[in-house]
Amino acid sequence: MSHGDLSGPFPEGVDPEGYDRLRRRVLWQLPMGLYLLGTSAGEAKNLMTLNWAMQVSTRPKQVAVSVESSAASHELLAEGGCFALSLLGREDRALARKFVKPAVHDPVARALNGAGYETAATGAPILAAAVSWLDCEVRQQVRLGSHTLFVGEVVAAGGGQDTAILRMEDTRMSYGG
Ligand SMILES: Cc1cc2nc3c(=O)[nH]c(=O)nc-3n(C[C@H](O)[C@H](O)[C@H](O)COP(=O)(O)O)c2cc1C
Repeated sequence: MSHGDLSGPFPEGVDPEGYDRLRRRVLWQLPMGLYLLGTSAGEAKNLMTLNWAMQVSTRPKQVAVSVESSAASHELLAEGGCFALSLLGREDRALARKFVKPAVHDPVARALNGAGYETAATGAPILAAAVSWLDCEVRQQVRLGSHTLFVGEVVAAGGGQDTAILRMEDTRMSYGG
């Protein structure tokens, strides 16, 4: 039986729509960070709001980000082979709203959507206002359907002061589910 756009599998006997709503609520309950993902290929640079990021190994130090196939950032990641993760201060939730569409790049002012950036060693942009950051080289790509998981090795890091970091729960936003 087809359930329209709903993504299975469904446990036996459940109402697909009710189950879909419940499953989404539980997925949204997963505690999440909220970051800006900086990508770069050639002259092009982008920053994008992203919550699917986590450390995935200690030796080597690797961090993974999951990015929608249709995003401009996906193309830059595949081409450029690098990314930088900017961690924002807890008061900076407005910045997370600013980067949900491909950003306008002003290379002369070194700004994306009017926000200043620094260029990491890999070439990926780090938000100038970031509290902390990680610069990564992509080591693996895993296709997951709607998204691709990019696993990056940390090649540089900065910040690290004892400052509260923005999380998803500090906003009214959600993603995925
Ligand atoms: C709160 C929030 C979290 C997001 N997290 C992700 C994410 O983890 N992965 C992803 O691919 N898109 C995520 N997005 C969506 C992207 O920010 C959005 O699709 C963006 O338009 C894609 O950017 P790009 O086309 O500039 O690369 C999130 C959006 C919001 C509002």
